[in-house]
Amino acid sequence: QPIRLSDYRPPAYLIDTVHLTFDLAPNTTRVKARLTIRRNGDHAEPLVLNGEKLKPISVAIDGRELAEAERTIDAEVLTIPNPPAAFELATEVEIDPENNKALDGLYMSGGRFCTQCEAEGFRKITWFADRPDVLARYTVRIEAPKSFQRLLSNGNLMEAGDLPGGRHFAVWNDPFPKPCYLFALVAGELDELVDSLVTMSGRTIDLRIYVDPGMADRATYAMDALKRSMKWDEEAFGREYDLDLFMIVAVRDFNFGAMENKGLNIFNASLLLADPATATDLDYERIESVVAHEYFHNWTGDRITCRDWFQLCLKEGLTVFRDQSFSADMRGEAVQRIKDVKALRARQFAEDQGPLAHPVRPSSYLKIDNFYTATIYEKGAEVIRMLRTLIGPELFRKGMDLYFDRWDGHATTVEEFIRCFAEVSGQDLSDFFAWYEQAGTPRLDLKHAYDAAARTLTLELSQKIDPTPGQPDKRPLPTPVRVGLLDAEGRTLAFQRDGQAMDETVVVLKDAKASVTLTDVDQAPVVSALRGFSAPVVMTTDAAPKDRYVQLAGDPDLFNRWEAGQDLARDLILARAAGKPDEVGEERYAHAVQRALADQAADPAFKALLLALPSESDLALARQPADPAAIHAARDALRQRLSLHLDEDLKRLHIGLQGLGDFSPDAASAGRRALRNAALDLLAANPRSEIAELADGHYRAALNMTDAMGGLSALMQIGGEAFEAALADFFDRWKSEPLVIDKWFALQARDPADSALGRVLGLTAHPAFDQKNPNRLRALVSTFAGFNPARFHDPSGAGYRFLADQILAVDGFNPMTAARLVEPLGGWRRYTPELGALMKAQLQRIVEAPGLSKNVYELASKALAD
Ligand code: ARG
Ligand code: ZN
Repeated sequence: QPIRLSDYRPPAYLIDTVHLTFDLAPNTTRVKARLTIRRNGDHAEPLVLNGEKLKPISVAIDGRELAEAERTIDAEVLTIPNPPAAFELATEVEIDPENNKALDGLYMSGGRFCTQCEAEGFRKITWFADRPDVLARYTVRIEAPKSFQRLLSNGNLMEAGDLPGGRHFAVWNDPFPKPCYLFALVAGELDELVDSLVTMSGRTIDLRIYVDPGMADRATYAMDALKRSMKWDEEAFGREYDLDLFMIVAVRDFNFGAMENKGLNIFNASLLLADPATATDLDYERIESVVAHEYFHNWTGDRITCRDWFQLCLKEGLTVFRDQSFSADMRGEAVQRIKDVKALRARQFAEDQGPLAHPVRPSSYLKIDNFYTATIYEKGAEVIRMLRTLIGPELFRKGMDLYFDRWDGHATTVEEFIRCFAEVSGQDLSDFFAWYEQAGTPRLDLKHAYDAAARTLTLELSQKIDPTPGQPDKRPLPTPVRVGLLDAEGRTLAFQRDGQAMDETVVVLKDAKASVTLTDVDQAPVVSALRGFSAPVVMTTDAAPKDRYVQLAGDPDLFNRWEAGQDLARDLILARAAGKPDEVGEERYAHAVQRALADQAADPAFKALLLALPSESDLALARQPADPAAIHAARDALRQRLSLHLDEDLKRLHIGLQGLGDFSPDAASAGRRALRNAALDLLAANPRSEIAELADGHYRAALNMTDAMGGLSALMQIGGEAFEAALADFFDRWKSEPLVIDKWFALQARDPADSALGRVLGLTAHPAFDQKNPNRLRALVSTFAGFNPARFHDPSGAGYRFLADQILAVDGFNPMTAARLVEPLGGWRRYTPELGALMKAQLQRIVEAPGLSKNVYELASKALAD
């Protein structure tokens, strides 16, 4: 019985104010709620409030306890058939946070209370209209034994003090109306890092980050990222922070990355804590972007929220677009764009080409928690980016201003968001809206024809979208294709379009086909199309390999320079996998990469990206049905060739980029470390004792986690004694640091060796493995299933069985996290029939398991559907 967008009805009752009193105890927390409620419309309807796993204590209206006959309580709702038009509802319930291993609602992590309410966790705390379009002002009183040192909730602290019996209390008030999914409470012993920031209007904001005792130093980078985010949002979007206090809390047990609760963001500790010894540059990068993401939600999510959960991309796609823009400003546009596109292709493209494909704005679901997907987030961000490209940055900003102005304090829809841009631009964006409603990755084809006599270049574009589940027929999507031309030396070639001279243009493909003629083109050009990845499509072109080499050597659009190298490598690997290796082409490719590496002007971070071949999952998408073993072998062969060809260059890079002085997490320093580690990684593709020593020395000399992991993973490729010794050393050194031990598990899950599956199975029995901690579980299980295709797709099916075992076990206590493990099995149709059948068999086994959660059922059954 799916929930449908078309069934949306405004709430029958509104709730204006909420007074909550928490009497915290691990197994018997009492929650009292006083809600002022009024009818939203003319006629009387029953009041139906959500509530799950609540032990009822009392229900009263306007001070009068209701008799049993005046209300009904079942496993999901409290119903009051005949309430007055306006009244105060007072309820009391008891809950058991300690035994809440679903980590949804109020639960305990590391002996502290914390909450996660998005999307539907608040109903596990008290009876409420648990839907995002009911906005209320909250006052929260927390009482607890003093051993729970900090008592935190949203908004401003109004009062705090002692109570008899070694207890204390705090009262918080949040003046901004909010939906209940933004409610948060934290209580426990925490260290505090304090700072402040003066906003553009001159207000001083108190900033506080709360972490496990002894960890405050590790929050300094997050604090710095927070301050930069706050300033950036003022400058880029004119958005200022509103409350006087902004808090972030890091917790160890968390189903997701982080959560934007009003004034009190809660983070997975892995996305907040960092110091050079325990965090890699990638961790720093993620922390910066997630701190920004959650902060940016204050306007795109909190001040303006979603009318219903079908509108999730209204806040998520937009906020991802905002955090990507921030990261681009912090770390360099091209490098950031390449990383974002790699992530999009790895996760979203795979999703969009499989049974779980869904539109950026879905129209039905069983469990909304299953829709926090790469499509809603990452493709949602791409849609915003295209909108900006289509109407231009000035009008985009104007549209955003109008959106903030018009919808502040409300819950709204994607239609209303797009309407703001249609109004400010005067454009009809109704066709554009199809990007929100249609699933599937468009396939774009580009052909070019040069007419030397007329000096014209004609571009023929066409698009096609394959059917996706429930959407057999597709409309064409308005697709912006950014195009520039290069001469044979890779220099920019100017041209004219509609009589105007230019270096670059955006061709908008509105229909299934379009043709554009550029004039005044001096010579037969190399076409650099889809620059900056201007649309989330799979593009094919009639470019010859020589054109790709011109681009790889010097396309001024760095995204396309990188992309040209990826295209060349992909074709070479796929040719090998198909048994037709192109040895001449491989040499030529290695030579071109060598030239690109020698470019003194290029950013080391960019060169590190150039050195990485397309991932195995990327390759599996490119040629179906995919044979992961063949892909792995072919990719490895090209890596070896590249490694041999670049041997001297890589060794020189490894020496030349050796770090000097203190560690700094800035992008330039991180880029040098990335290149140095990429060089070592590629050297390790040809295991020799000389390289084993180099990797071992690299590991032992490492002064930071980035280099330690770089050394360890190079050693892993080589294998043998040195690797086992380093692995044991690493564990021993870091056994009391959970976030580092996660890396230890994840590293082994990525091991390309034949023995990896056995190792991973063995690790589930390791004393440090813990299914109840989502970080630990994902480090081993998701990493193996998602990033070790050659071993996950073991021909015996043992990799699939392992994943299914984990899903079923975890589903018993944490359905949300179990459901997020299903995805790797969902791609079964893309693999060889033998593998596909084994994957399908495990999905079948999951669907038939007794007592399965709705979460896992929805994804596994959709994955199986024909
Ligand atoms: N809104 C949070 C964020 O994007 C994620 C919440 C995840 N919740 C869920 N039920 N999947 O930052
Ligand atoms: Zn978000």
